Amino acid sequence: MTIKMTTILAQGAEAILYHTGEGVVKVRHVKNYRHPEIDEQLRKFRTRREAKVIGKLNVLGFPCPHLQKMDDEKMELTMDFINGQKVRDILSPTLGREIGKKVGVLHTHGIIHGDLTTSNMIHNGEVHFIDFGLSFFSDKAEDKAVDLHLLRCALESKHCDIYEECFTAVLDGYKETYPDYPVVLARMDEVEGRGRNKHK
Ligand SMILES: Nc1ncnc2c1ncn2[C@@H]1O[C@H](COP(=O)(O)OP(=O)(O)OP(=O)(O)O)[C@@H](O)[C@H]1O
Ligand SMILES: [Mg+2]
Repeated sequence: MTIKMTTILAQGAEAILYHTGEGVVKVRHVKNYRHPEIDEQLRKFRTRREAKVIGKLNVLGFPCPHLQKMDDEKMELTMDFINGQKVRDILSPTLGREIGKKVGVLHTHGIIHGDLTTSNMIHNGEVHFIDFGLSFFSDKAEDKAVDLHLLRCALESKHCDIYEECFTAVLDGYKETYPDYPVVLARMDEVEGRGRNKHK
């Protein structure tokens, strides 16, 4: 007899993740501080969106969890467990370059991750991206620039000692896989300039 254990893997800002015999179940629970109708809509929207993006990435063979099922009544996604190390614990310029290349692949397919942090990446032979609840489809340079800008902010705050080498490596990798990079990087400078001007 095999006993299938269920443990809580993580309790994120938005969802609880269970590790079950089947894999990882991500459940978006009711948030009482939101209006009930808005809460239901938002949880449904994000659950469906995350499933749609992961489904597309599975077809492309992009390194992310394999989606097993989506239930937009229970607000649950079931996906494969990726057994690896959090990139947050092992970031290096080499991994930075790999991350940049993979962001370039996402952007080439018109996918914006929306929450690029090293907590949303797991290393298992290669870097896998997770957490597509804020992802969306867009071909706008602005959206791609903001995606990269948020990654820069995440590196700056969580990896301040190696942030500069790592973000330079991210951009080197990005240039290798995203041919239209000059437009996006110019837009990123603009986005970051806007941020700086706000404090003047
Ligand atoms: N498929 C998976 N395989 C292994 N671990 C996973 C998987 N999916 C999620 N996790 C773990 O659960 C954590 C939270 O998952 P996720 O980022 O999808 O949820 P979240 O609610 O958005 O969390 P947060 O608000 O912390 O970003 C991840 O940081 C990761 O450690
Ligand atoms: Mg997350």
